[in-house]
Amino acid sequence: MKKKIIKYSLIGLAIIFVIIQFIPVDRSNPPITGEINAPPEVKEILQRSCYDCHSNQTDWHFYSYVAPVSWLVAKDVREGREELNFSEWNKYDAKKRNKKYKETYEEIEEGEMPMKIYLITHPGAGLNENEKQIIKNWTDSLLIQTHEDSSDL
Ligand code: HEC
Repeated sequence: MKKKIIKYSLIGLAIIFVIIQFIPVDRSNPPITGEINAPPEVKEILQRSCYDCHSNQTDWHFYSYVAPVSWLVAKDVREGREELNFSEWNKYDAKKRNKKYKETYEEIEEGEMPMKIYLITHPGAGLNENEKQIIKNWTDSLLIQTHEDSSDL
């Protein structure tokens, strides 16, 4: 009796697993409207560690095709792009860009980004101290620059 229950439960789960694969998941990469301008060493870090969720150039890995993991991945990309999109940088005005530079540095410094769950499948996406410093110098220089710009007005 017990064996039968287990057997049918497993068959049931297998059927559900197959059925959920047919639920559509948005894995689109919308057009790049305006790419962020950054020095190559900065761009390299952003592309490696952030672009899968914060650009329109997501590299959709194989597991992003397998439900229910695909739903989680698509949700992170959707929410990530809403918060910060390096491919639609032209849509932010100077004030918003400043805020994004600051947040970018803060999230990296606090170890909040890239997301921990992402690092399991992308261990190379983490930033070492040197790379964190590169990001810090970059965002610092931009913040000072825009500060000076605004005092000229
Ligand atoms: C696996 C997907 C993923 C990766 C990779 C990733 N992010 Fe995020 N990021 C998100 C999601 C989802 C949110 C929105 C929810 C949240 O804040 O946790 C977010 C939010 C943010 C925010 C806004 C935070 C706030 O609330 O102010 C910043 C800034 C940010 N990410 C920067 C980065 C940077 C910089 C990198 C690379 C070093 C990075 N992220 C890598 C998914 C990701």
